[in-house]
Amino acid sequence: MNLILLGPPGAGKGTQAKRLEDAYKIIQLSTGDMLRAEVSSGSELGAKAKEIMEAGGLAPDDVIIAMISGRIDHDDCVNGFILDGFPRTVPQAEALAEMLANKGMSIDHVVAIEVDPEAMVARITGRFTCSECGAGYHDDFQPTKVDGVCDTCGGTTFTRRADDNAETVRNRLSAYEEQTAPIIAFYRDKGALKTVDGMADIDVVTASLKEIID
Ligand code: AP5
Ligand code: MG
Repeated sequence: MNLILLGPPGAGKGTQAKRLEDAYKIIQLSTGDMLRAEVSSGSELGAKAKEIMEAGGLAPDDVIIAMISGRIDHDDCVNGFILDGFPRTVPQAEALAEMLANKGMSIDHVVAIEVDPEAMVARITGRFTCSECGAGYHDDFQPTKVDGVCDTCGGTTFTRRADDNAETVRNRLSAYEEQTAPIIAFYRDKGALKTVDGMADIDVVTASLKEIID
């Protein structure tokens, strides 16, 4: 089963993708995570991506499309995948459709997580992640059960994203409105779009997604 999760920065794409990964044994493919891995590796692509991400802009379509096309051929995608943060422009959505057709694959569900963009600044600036296992948290909305200890792996070191500051978040939200929001209409026009209320509690959003999938 292959899914696309759409929604602005902070909508909960990553949070929900991790839960669906566990529930359905499918793989989260986050283009943001892939670019952050390039930044950490010190690659040439990483150096370019770092600048773009810290400004809150979007990486070039051709780079992202090639990255995803290669990634979905990996063995771990055989049960299916959850696209998180891709596609993000109409050309990316068109390239995805062509790429999947060429590979004899298709998307089962396209789900937009609908949120109030204004509420996303608080979500993003409070986000932190376990450095060891990548589990995601929020200072107020999803704290660790024991202060300073990861619920999942017991790790005690956490990271915050370089682009998770109020100024960059505003730019990311603008990029979403200008370049990504049009793909909602792209999928709606094809009759493929489903929506969930992303302002609900995290568990409620997960339940809504499972209802669509099941
Ligand atoms: P990316 O990593 O994709 O970031 P994003 O789209 O800005 O989305 P976020 O990861 O910020 O939000 P999320 O929806 O995953 O929210 P989360 O679940 O963490 O991209 C980063 C950058 O990479 C882009 O700006 C761009 O430069 C580049 N890039 C990536 N893909 C690209 C592409 N395809 N093309 C071009 N460039 C690309 O939740 C956020 C917080 O809220 C968490 O702390 C969580 O605990 C909390 N939370 C989640 N749900 C709820 C809820 N229901 N209630 C309360 N709190 C909640
Ligand atoms: Mg994310």
